[in-house]
Amino acid sequence: MLTDFAIRVEVVHIPVMLKEVVAYLEPKPGGIFVDATIGCGGHSREILAGIRPSGQLIGIDQDQEALALVRKGLNEYSDNLFLVNDNFRNLKNILADLKINSIDGILFDLGVSSLQLDTLHRGFGIKHEAPLDMRMDKRSRVSAFELVNKLPLEEISRILRVYGEERFHARIARAIVEQRKRNPVMTTTELADIAVKAQGYHKFYKIHPATRTFQAFRIAVNDELASFEAALKEAVGFLNPGGRVCVLSYHSLEDRIAKNIIRDFEKQGCLRRLTKKPLQPLQTELSQNPRSRSAKLRAAEKV
Ligand SMILES: C[S@@+](CC[C@H](N)C(=O)[O-])C[C@H]1O[C@@H](n2cnc3c(N)ncnc32)[C@H](O)[C@@H]1O
Repeated sequence: MLTDFAIRVEVVHIPVMLKEVVAYLEPKPGGIFVDATIGCGGHSREILAGIRPSGQLIGIDQDQEALALVRKGLNEYSDNLFLVNDNFRNLKNILADLKINSIDGILFDLGVSSLQLDTLHRGFGIKHEAPLDMRMDKRSRVSAFELVNKLPLEEISRILRVYGEERFHARIARAIVEQRKRNPVMTTTELADIAVKAQGYHKFYKIHPATRTFQAFRIAVNDELASFEAALKEAVGFLNPGGRVCVLSYHSLEDRIAKNIIRDFEKQGCLRRLTKKPLQPLQTELSQNPRSRSAKLRAAEKV
């Protein structure tokens, strides 16, 4: 029986562009697929329905809480589903351990899940007071607290500029360093306040003015971009001819990596783009799931 927590998760996490992802991945009975970011299992459930009765789905997530929940949530598919608590950058070793040499498709649905955003103590959300954590993988030793309170000013400024594309990076970095001279920055709300005050809050902001600061630290804590770049390149090598790769990204840094890698493989004659331009959610999806608003889907096929 699902716990209250699991029921809440089922209700809150809505898989993004589900129909489109499944249409591009084309799961077929007997196929071997990888969901590199299984999260709450929304996309995986549909993939599993497509590969049954004999197919295999390898579901990877570095988040222990997500895996524990998805194990229960997808219990009915336990014969076809192999769950792995690891970083997808270790794809090669993960597949080697399972004695899998090639796959028919792989999905990367990047970033954080609603489970992570809405579990207040994990420190991903801007609006709720929580310790500065932001680790997707609890085994990792570096949390946002360490980065915010220990990195030199120039490095904080670089993180905000590169990972947050934050134009006020220098001001916010200086404000963080000033604040921590008095007291360490302990919570999400303290960090958000510093970022807001450093910029001067204006009503015309479309997004919360600390959004880019939070994105930047989250990417740095989890080394998100380097992991994705390495894993996407690795994944293409495992695809069978006709095999598919789908990437759902949520900000321009992720999308740029996907775009460039797919384009480079296409130039080498290794991949064929299925989406010339990235697909975005339809208005109906946006109204049902506002969190899908920044999503972009790219898909390609192994030649
Ligand atoms: C947007 S959610 C996926 C949601 C999922 N598609 C669903 O429908 O429920 C992203 C998930 O990927 C995981 N993740 C992000 N980066 C990862 C990495 N480098 N390795 C493994 N898991 C990762 C996160 O922990 C999170 O659970």
